[in-house]
Amino acid sequence: MESNRENFASNLTAILALAGSAIGLGNIWRFPYMVGEYGGAAFIIVYLAFSLLISLPIMLSESIIGRRSRSNTFGALRKLSKGRAWSSLSLLTVLSPLIILSFYSVVGGWSIEYLFKAFGGAFVNADPDNVRAQFAAFTSHPFLPLVFHTGFLLLCAIIVILGVKSGIEKFNKVTMPLLFCLIVSMAIYSLSLPGSRAGVDYLLKPDFSLLSPKALASALGQSFFSLSLGVGTVLTYSSYISPKENILVSGVGTTVFDLLFALIAGFAVMPAVFAAGIEPGAGPALIFETVPFIFCKMGSAAPWISSVVAILFFAAICFAALSSAISMFEVGVAYLVEEKGLSRRKSVVCIFLGVWALGALCAYFPRLFSLCDTLTSNYLMMFGALLFVVFAGWVMKKEDVLSEFSSEGRYPLNRKLSGVFYFLLKWVAPIAVTLIFITNFLS
Ligand code: TRP
Repeated sequence: MESNRENFASNLTAILALAGSAIGLGNIWRFPYMVGEYGGAAFIIVYLAFSLLISLPIMLSESIIGRRSRSNTFGALRKLSKGRAWSSLSLLTVLSPLIILSFYSVVGGWSIEYLFKAFGGAFVNADPDNVRAQFAAFTSHPFLPLVFHTGFLLLCAIIVILGVKSGIEKFNKVTMPLLFCLIVSMAIYSLSLPGSRAGVDYLLKPDFSLLSPKALASALGQSFFSLSLGVGTVLTYSSYISPKENILVSGVGTTVFDLLFALIAGFAVMPAVFAAGIEPGAGPALIFETVPFIFCKMGSAAPWISSVVAILFFAAICFAALSSAISMFEVGVAYLVEEKGLSRRKSVVCIFLGVWALGALCAYFPRLFSLCDTLTSNYLMMFGALLFVVFAGWVMKKEDVLSEFSSEGRYPLNRKLSGVFYFLLKWVAPIAVTLIFITNFLS
C-alpha cells in the first residue's frame, strides 16, 4: 500500500493544504468576536503566544507521527507503538472529523444557498427583520437544507476521489490564494465605509483588564479549533509531506496564515458591522443574519455594489468551508483505503453515505446539531490532541521524534530548537490540554 502513496509536490503546497484545513468558518464567525470581547490587541498577543508555545508543538507532534509512519491516523499509532492499545484509542480520532464533517457540511450547504441568494440580489434593500426571516425560513424549509447539504458533501467527495495531488492539492493551490484576495478586498471595502472606525477600535484597542481566566481558556480553545488540532487532519496531511521537507516551516507557515486570515476576516466583518450600527455577535448568526444586513444597508446607495460584495463574501465562505471539509473527509478515506483495503472510490462512497446520513439528521434536529458540535469541539478534539502529544512525548523514542523534527538532521535551526521544542511537547502541551479539558468539563 505504501509504495503508491502520493506526496504533496512541495512544502508550499503542503502549507496551502494545511492552511486550507485550518482556515474555516471558525476564523470568520468566532475569532473576530472573541478578540473584541476579550480585550482587543491584548487578546491577540495572548492568542499568538498560545499558538506558538502550545498549539504549534501539538501540530508538530501530529506532523511527526504522520510523516514518520506515512500512514493514516490508526495505522500511524499501530506502526509506531507495540500492542494495539494506542491504535484502538486513535479510532476515536478517525471518528471525530467525520462527526464534525456532518454538521459542518450542513453549514457549508447554507453557504452555498446564500451564495445563490446573493447572486439573485436577495439582500438588496431588505431590512434586518427580513434578513432574519429569510434565515429562519430557509433553515426550517422541508427539503432545501438537505439539498444543499447533499450538494456540498458531493463537491467534497468529488475533490477527494481525485486523490491527494490532483484533487486536494490542486483545489487548495487555486482556492487559497483566491480566498486571501477575496477577504483582503472585503476588508479594504469594509474599512472604507463611514463609521468603520468603531470596528477597528473594537478589534485593536488593548484592554488587559479583560484578560480573565475565561478569556485565556477561550484563547487556547479557539487556537486549537482554528488550527484543526486533535482530529487527525494534520496527521493525515503530514503523512503526504516528503521526508525531505521542513515540517517546522510548514507548521509555522500554517499557524501564521491562519492567524493572518482570522485578523483580516475581523477587519472584513467588524468595521462593516459597526458602520451599519448593529451589535457584534458570534456564531452562525453573525454570518447568516448580521452580515447580510450590512449588504442591504450598502444597497441603498448602489444596489449592484452590495450584490457584488455579498457574492464575494459568500464565495469566500464556501471556499473556506470546502477546503476544511475535504481535510476531514480525507482522514476517513485514508483509514478505509489503508486499513480496510478498499479502493479510494469505494472509501469515498462509504464515508459520503455515513456522513450524509448524520448530517441530514443534524439539519433537521438542532439539538443533535449542537450535541455533535459540543461533543467534538469540547471533548473529542481535546482528547485527540492529548493522545497525539502524549504519544509523541512519552511513547515514541526521543531520538525518533527529534530526528523527524529536523528531517534526519537536515535542518540546523531545527536541531538548535530541539531542546525547547521537546520540552514544550513533553511538558507544556499535555498540561495545557488537560487544563482546557477540565475547564470544558466544568463549564
Ligand atoms: N479549523 C476549522 C475552522 O476554523 C474548523 C475545524 C475544527 C476543522 N476541526 C477541524 C477543520 C478539523 C478541518 C478539520 O473553521
